[in-house]
Amino acid sequence: MRLIFIGPPGVGKGTQAQLLAVSLKIPKISTGDILREAVEEGTALGREAKRFMDGGKLVPDEVVVGIIRDRIDAPDAKDGYILDGFPRTIPQAEALTVMLSERGEGIDRVLNFDLGDEELVRRLSGRRSCPGCKSVYHVDSAPPKKPGICDRCDASLMTRSDDEPGTVRKRLEVFRSQTTPLIAFYAKNGALHRVDGSGSVEVVRRRVEEAVRTVRS
Ligand code: AP5
Repeated sequence: MRLIFIGPPGVGKGTQAQLLAVSLKIPKISTGDILREAVEEGTALGREAKRFMDGGKLVPDEVVVGIIRDRIDAPDAKDGYILDGFPRTIPQAEALTVMLSERGEGIDRVLNFDLGDEELVRRLSGRRSCPGCKSVYHVDSAPPKKPGICDRCDASLMTRSDDEPGTVRKRLEVFRSQTTPLIAFYAKNGALHRVDGSGSVEVVRRRVEEAVRTVRS
């Protein structure tokens, strides 16, 4: 099954993609995670991407399209994947359509997560991430057992540099101007499904399961 998760920063795409990836036994492919790893490793890609990410802007299309082209060719992606945060612009979506049609494939469903700005900002300002195993927590709604320490690998949790309030505002603006046109793009082929992102992680997880159930049956 090939799925796309789109939605504003902080809506919970990454959290839900991780849960569904485990349940469907397919990889979650997050361009944000891949870019952050490149930044941590200090590669040429990371150095280029950091300038855009720290400003809340999108990394150029040709860079992320190249990342996805390589990643979906990996052996673990042969039975499907969840694209978390890609595509994010119309040119990225068009490039993905071409890539998939060259392989005789298509997207089964596009889940468009929706949530009000106040809750988005609350979720982002309380997010804490593990630099080791990449687990994601929230100080109120998904706290670690020991404050500031990852439950899974004992590393000290960090705040993402782009979760600073000024950068969050910029990311929300960029989402509205550059990513919302994808909703109309995917509405045309009938694959689009809106998911209400409000409520607990478990409540949203059930909505996600329901949205993909018909693809599986
Ligand atoms: P990326 O990492 O993709 O960031 P994003 O899309 O802004 O999304 P987030 O990771 O901030 O949020 P999320 O929706 O995954 O929420 P999460 O599950 O963590 O991209 C970062 C940057 O990389 C971009 O700004 C850009 O520069 C670049 N980039 C990436 N892809 C690109 C592309 N395709 N093209 C160009 N540039 C690209 O949840 C958030 C918090 O809420 C967590 O603390 C979580 O625990 C909590 N939470 C989750 N669900 C719930 C719930 N139901 N109730 C309460 N709390 C919840």
